[in-house]
Amino acid sequence: MVIKTAEFVISNTEINRCPAPDKPEFAFIGRSNVGKSSLINMLTGNKNLAKISNRPGKTQTINHFIINGSWYLVDLPGYGFANVSQTDRYQWGNMIEQYMTQRENLYCSFILLDARLEPQGKDLDFIHWLGGKHIPLAVVLTKADKLKRNELTRSVGLYKMTLLKTWDELPPFFITSSETKVGRDEILGFVEQAMTNR
Ligand code: GTP
Ligand code: MG
Repeated sequence: MVIKTAEFVISNTEINRCPAPDKPEFAFIGRSNVGKSSLINMLTGNKNLAKISNRPGKTQTINHFIINGSWYLVDLPGYGFANVSQTDRYQWGNMIEQYMTQRENLYCSFILLDARLEPQGKDLDFIHWLGGKHIPLAVVLTKADKLKRNELTRSVGLYKMTLLKTWDELPPFFITSSETKVGRDEILGFVEQAMTNR
């Protein structure tokens, strides 16, 4: 898919203030600092579209972008950031639960996982929760550029093996780097396919 335009639409914390659900939507979610905003910028070819930071917890709201005037791409706030109060964590959970379960035009949510880390309980819990609710998901390993080839192979194997302990089939699985743009064609191709197949 060729990205011709990518524009910011709205940022908010309430699902009823999201744009009308009249276009296919693809969301990006994962722990704070995993690289959601960077991946969105890499995919759209606009390094200033989503705000990026070294400091975890940068994205705090649901951010809608419209791509080629025809589908929504959504940057969601990260979870698992230790420095967040119980109340904030609760609000995050509520917001994400509502978003994930009520957004009828959500074609797929991409769950981002740091390729450098071993599978983490919080991520697996979240994946299992989505799976249990039959919310379509895909797994994206991020920051592949930070690993040597053999380390990456090992990490991919470990993630796949861990997922297969619970699921009979692997979800769509992508390896990415916002630095080298690896995985870009694959994800954009997947989005295009998902829109034509539904
Ligand atoms: P929150 O909004 O806080 O939840 O974080 P986020 O998941 O949106 O992460 P963000 O894109 O802001 O990136 C966090 C840090 O990781 C930044 O310093 C990025 O430059 C860095 N980063 C993200 N993706 C990559 C990547 O593919 N490779 C490398 N080397 N660094 C990356
Ligand atoms: Mg972010």
